Amino acid sequence: MAERLIIGMSGASGAPLTVELLRQLRSLHPEVESHLVMTRGAELSLRQETGLGPEALEALVSVRHANDDIGACIASGSYAAMGMLVVPCSMKTVAGIVSGYSDNLLLRAADVCLKERRRLVLAARETPLSTVHLRNLCEASRLGAEILPPMLTYYDRPASLEDCTRRMAARLLSRFGLGGADDVWTGLD
Ligand SMILES: Cc1cc2nc3c(=O)[nH]c(=O)nc-3n(C[C@H](O)[C@H](O)[C@H](O)COP(=O)(O)O)c2cc1C
Repeated sequence: MAERLIIGMSGASGAPLTVELLRQLRSLHPEVESHLVMTRGAELSLRQETGLGPEALEALVSVRHANDDIGACIASGSYAAMGMLVVPCSMKTVAGIVSGYSDNLLLRAADVCLKERRRLVLAARETPLSTVHLRNLCEASRLGAEILPPMLTYYDRPASLEDCTRRMAARLLSRFGLGGADDVWTGLD
């Protein structure tokens, strides 16, 4: 059976990171069955930050699910998957995850990962972080999620923002034992 990875995309800043991650996943790990679910906010930020529409991401994944389709396969714990990456992860989505208020498919799929003890990685993004955000992130970590904010690094001497994006996408994939591209920026078009 093919390994499955669920990718949730919410309305925080960072759409180019999701695009790059899906490109790396598809080109380097075509054996992985990828399931994408996007919130309405994610669609807006994708358009604003990349000029792309959701159909561009649809072409990069095995299956795209509608966020209101709470009966989709990824809403069930019996549907095996290696886990889920939420990239980028808004503070609203973090709040939904920690409260178990699963009123959309992204939140339900994350809830399933927690209850099935599967890997759940949150590329949580906001700045500055309020006490509410910090409290919710701390709770998400306590509940078993990994918090991996898309932070800039300087020690690896990035040549460009694209360079940073490529390396961060690779780092996120590596949490699932999937090697990423750390030497080729695949671009946005
Ligand atoms: C341009 C833009 C950038 C945003 N960036 C962030 C962000 O970095 N982090 C965040 O938590 N919310 C951010 N937001 C707010 C979220 O999109 C908003 O709270 C939304 O309701 C999140 O819903 P979702 O988690 O269902 O996508 C941004 C909104 C816009 C319009």
